[in-house]
Amino acid sequence: MRNDSAVLDPMLELRNGTQDLHCRIETSTHFSVLMQEQVTLGDYLQALELLSRFYADKESQLIAGITHYFSAFNYIPRQPLLNHDLRKLGIAKDDKPGEFTTAVPSKSEILGLLYVVEGSALGGQIITRHLAQKLGKQISEAMRFYTLDGKMPPDHWTKVKCLFRESLNDREEIAQTVFSAREAFNCLLI
Ligand code: HEM
Repeated sequence: MRNDSAVLDPMLELRNGTQDLHCRIETSTHFSVLMQEQVTLGDYLQALELLSRFYADKESQLIAGITHYFSAFNYIPRQPLLNHDLRKLGIAKDDKPGEFTTAVPSKSEILGLLYVVEGSALGGQIITRHLAQKLGKQISEAMRFYTLDGKMPPDHWTKVKCLFRESLNDREEIAQTVFSAREAFNCLLI
């Protein structure tokens, strides 16, 4: 297969190839309210519940894929953080991981999903500041998901970008990764 890594930047392809969906998600009901002046505890809870369904569905396959293809990558599991936050807000959640019994998905399926999950933490920093300002004490003990429990090293996104640039070597694989990232975005667009 032809190696196009010298001319194609996978991160740029991913950003350009999902920009329309990022725009839709930022303006979707569940997420746009988080950045409004009048955001409520109920809005926050609804966003966490949507994210919790997404991670319950996807995270066990994501972790299986990371373990299989990129075992040195420092992935912070999100489901326990979401469960913690939801419990603090009065929603019962146990930490039983989701079932994942089928074959490990392809590398591009994993990378597409990982791009959406890790990229969302970038916007998450802005959302965190706004929510802390608006909801303060009401959610101060229920922000582990958005703050990643303080465990995200400052150079994490740089490492994410390195992983993608090292792992994606040809046009076809990049196109499949963009497709998989689009699927992941679509799961949150309800
Ligand atoms: C109100 C909701 C959201 C806002 C305000 C927001 C905002 C942002 C901002 C400002 C960035 C760029 C950060 C930077 O370059 O340093 C970003 C990146 C990103 N966000 Fe969001 N975001 C939101 C929701 C989401 C959601 C729900 C997802 C998916 C689960 C998501 C996925 C991504 C991805 C994948 C990137 C990386 C784009 C790149 O390749 O540079 N965002 N977001």
